[in-house]
Amino acid sequence: MIPPYNKRVEALRESPTRAINRVVEQMRKKGLDVIMLSAGEPGVPPPREVRLWLAKALEEESMRLYSYTPSPGFMDLREAIAMDMKELEGVEVSPDQILVVTGGQNAIFSSFAAILEPGDEVIIMDPTYFGYLNILPYFGVKLVPIVSPAETAYQPDVEGIKEAVKRGKTKAIVLVSPDNPTGRLIREDVARAIAEIAQDHGIWIVYDEPYKTLIYEGSHVSFFKLAPENTISLYAFSKDPGIPGWRLGYVYGPAEIVRRIALVSEATTYNPPSVAQYLVLTYLRNREVRRRHIEYFRGVYAYRRDLMVEELRKIEGISFYKPQGSMFVLVDAKEVLARKGLTVSAFADKLLREKHVAVVPGEFFGNSTVWSVRLSFTRESPERIREGVARFGDLLSQT
Ligand SMILES: Cc1ncc(COP(=O)(O)O)c(C=O)c1O
Repeated sequence: MIPPYNKRVEALRESPTRAINRVVEQMRKKGLDVIMLSAGEPGVPPPREVRLWLAKALEEESMRLYSYTPSPGFMDLREAIAMDMKELEGVEVSPDQILVVTGGQNAIFSSFAAILEPGDEVIIMDPTYFGYLNILPYFGVKLVPIVSPAETAYQPDVEGIKEAVKRGKTKAIVLVSPDNPTGRLIREDVARAIAEIAQDHGIWIVYDEPYKTLIYEGSHVSFFKLAPENTISLYAFSKDPGIPGWRLGYVYGPAEIVRRIALVSEATTYNPPSVAQYLVLTYLRNREVRRRHIEYFRGVYAYRRDLMVEELRKIEGISFYKPQGSMFVLVDAKEVLARKGLTVSAFADKLLREKHVAVVPGEFFGNSTVWSVRLSFTRESPERIREGVARFGDLLSQT
């Protein structure tokens, strides 16, 4: 007799970009070259000075780089993160309120584990980062999606949030800015209104900001400044300085909740990876390198974004919002695909198998974007972005 499984694990879903990567892997084994416009991966490695420092440190005949670290991360790193936020965002956070974790996913999981109970309601935007739709059902909560349409530039719908909160079951509101998949920044006045709702009703704002230095126009809004008692902020070093495979991020918020999130993080990973912590510490402490690097990758990514937008404008029958930040353009292809009776998933699959271009179908971000496709502009070179978008346009006009 087969012993039973945990039922909640059945609620977990594989990330669509992971599933796409598996197909791409098989295609590459056959010698096919795929243009990757799917995952939100950086195309710029960490600064050379920092990599050289690490190469030198690896020559040491000692255990320094390989040992366990404190569970919440090195105190030096937490201090460097506090100093970085103060300088770049004017946010004052004490190192005790910062927890270093094993990447953005761990930040999300540990934070939810620390606040959610089965039956709670969690307000999410529709569209939103697929990671939330994949993970939240595991906690037995009810997802309450609030549509933020392209017509309002994807700004969260404050009235919709007010309405949902009236039921009195909301435990948390999840917000992402700069956003994945839309690239919009939350406006200051909208943020203020949501912060007020959260404060009035005793609701957590889970604020996910891994793209906060990937901003091309506009500025980043800080919920921690607006509602410090209610905000749990999440960050990943996966995009800046560009170490997604090295798994490092941080959480900050009120000390008492951070202490609880730290217990979950310790229970699941013990401590965040030591070598990644050393690399980021060197990066954040070297202010000149830090500032120069941000300017550099912003320039690289803004150029690629503009190029992608320019190429997309040549395609008939689609519409999109020019992203102000992050790594993505969300393209609405309803006019063409609905007419042809082709779902976005079928189109994306055809694009991958026939044109060798990987993109993510909009259905993974919510019900409001089932006719959209997410394209990432950061990983590939300008020539390959141009080629990838041209093939995307070709297939749209052929299908
Ligand atoms: C909004 C958002 N949150 C969290 C994550 C996960 O971060 P990580 O890749 O460090 O696990 C991502 C990754 O793309 C993201 O876009």
